[in-house]
Amino acid sequence: MLSLANALDADELSAWEVRNARLVPEVRAAGYCLEVKIDGAAVSLTYEEGRLVMGATRGNGLVGENVTANLRTIRALPLRLRGSGWPARMEVRGEVYLPRSAFDALNQRREKEGRPSFANPRNAAAGSLRQLDPTITAGRGLRLFCFHVEAPGGTLRAERQSDVLATLRDWGLPVEPHYRSVKDLEAASREIAKLERLLATLDYEADGVVVKVDALRLHPELGTIGDREPRWAVARKFAAEVAVTRLQAIRVNVGRTGALTPYAVLDPVAIGGVTVSTATLHNADLIEARDIREGDWVEVTRAGDVIPQVLGPLRDRRTGHERRWQMPSACPRCGSPVERPPDEVASHCPNISCPGRVHEAIAHFASRAGMDIRGLGYERVAQLLESGLIEDVADLYEVRAEQLVTLEGLAAKSAHQLVDAIAVSKQRPLSLLLVALGIPHVGQQAAQILARRFHRLDRLAQAEEEELAAIHGIGPTIARAVAGFFHDATNQRLLERLETLGVRMDEPAAKASGELSGAAYVITGTLPTLARAEATRLLETQGARVTQSVSKKTTALVAGADPGSKLEKATRLGIEVIDEAELLRRLGSGT
Ligand code: IVH
Repeated sequence: MLSLANALDADELSAWEVRNARLVPEVRAAGYCLEVKIDGAAVSLTYEEGRLVMGATRGNGLVGENVTANLRTIRALPLRLRGSGWPARMEVRGEVYLPRSAFDALNQRREKEGRPSFANPRNAAAGSLRQLDPTITAGRGLRLFCFHVEAPGGTLRAERQSDVLATLRDWGLPVEPHYRSVKDLEAASREIAKLERLLATLDYEADGVVVKVDALRLHPELGTIGDREPRWAVARKFAAEVAVTRLQAIRVNVGRTGALTPYAVLDPVAIGGVTVSTATLHNADLIEARDIREGDWVEVTRAGDVIPQVLGPLRDRRTGHERRWQMPSACPRCGSPVERPPDEVASHCPNISCPGRVHEAIAHFASRAGMDIRGLGYERVAQLLESGLIEDVADLYEVRAEQLVTLEGLAAKSAHQLVDAIAVSKQRPLSLLLVALGIPHVGQQAAQILARRFHRLDRLAQAEEEELAAIHGIGPTIARAVAGFFHDATNQRLLERLETLGVRMDEPAAKASGELSGAAYVITGTLPTLARAEATRLLETQGARVTQSVSKKTTALVAGADPGSKLEKATRLGIEVIDEAELLRRLGSGT
């Protein structure tokens, strides 16, 4: 899915036009379409013959996530298009969002139930889309706005982006109503100023205005930067809003590495239309440097995608009753004496079995960046820990559905889905396992370098610190952390257990592109993680063809859940049938 470049002020917007005009001089006279930039979760909707066949989210950025069942619960989303003139097959892009009112109601409900609240409507929307149980999604009140069409061969009859929006609306797709066409940037700036004032009054989160070259014929001429960023559109973003409220207390969160992070508990305050009641304070030094005290009136800011932050106190409003704060000397979760290495800003809880650390570590293991276990979020992990069903990540692979149904809010169907999602995660490649394990300093990039270099976990585990440090892109800090991690006896036991439980410990070899050239694949049913459009794209980038029906020429049928008649036909013709895991293996794309 595409992303957008930002323009933070009018000058940056002009610079964008200047760059474009150098490539395609006509842009100056092509007019612009201005659209409210909704801050939610990007979705791609595939319509075939006017029927919704698939809906996907951005996923991890590379591989989308099929969320068709959940999207179907959004009332505003037509399963069948109205009118006529739609291309036989097209992909509609849009943004799923949670109205502010629904967001506030959801958080209030969760607070009453003692569950953590969502930081912002965007997280809430994305989280709601990832629910395993569509009835939960349905209860959240998600909405959707559409703004883009991709159709093979440009079969859409529209000359301007503003026509596309009108057409989408004619087909019954929801379109944000405040879009407008303007003739040039000067007019655009005036309208943008009006829109900026309007945004704060809307019941949905918007973090700017998207400015698009209105004439569609210029879009291919302008092209995209690096495959992802269209030159024909730019996001004109607005400065973050600031509000003043009272800081009731400073509390401390324990992270998975043991780092203690202070945060502020605030009198709830609306910032940019969202009620904020907590904000991060980063570390003790910052609190001291800004002289932030409990009881202070503080300025708090919140930019769409960022966690709310405390900027600083209003000193002239002090009464003398404010309390200076100090990092506690004992961990708030387990009571262990807190450590602070002299050259670091963060204090640590040194106890690796600290319940706070364990909780964060398991949630990280299951997170999208790691083993990507759908349905296993922060709270579900908390429940599993509290009920004693798990103590560490390896225990996840031994949990049975019969045990899960004893947990509150987990019906039999969801319990089975969760067990399946956990089982599927056993196949994640080494690079993701390395991220999931939470080795200090090892993020996505380092994990990939290590996985490609060593292919197998046992080989990586045996590597000496010097050998690791010599690898391009690794360096001494990561090398020390990795070597240290594998030398630790507890970690070794954990890895042995994971292996015994069937967790994959290697990285599939990447094949040269074009490896599958000449092959013909057919895809049927719902694949567990890949959206069909994405599977098609991955196959095509490797030179394979993807066709609609099974014939004697078909190389293999990729079958997911509810496969239907194509599976019967493939079996009859003796065509090989493979699952998604095998497809990914062939694509050499475990990543
Ligand atoms: S145009 C294929 N228009 O913002 C379309 N994006 O920061 C390329 N977004 O990924 C983007 N409202 O999810 C476009 N009116 C709008 C939008 C919009 C929200 C999101 C979209 C995109 C992200 C980029």
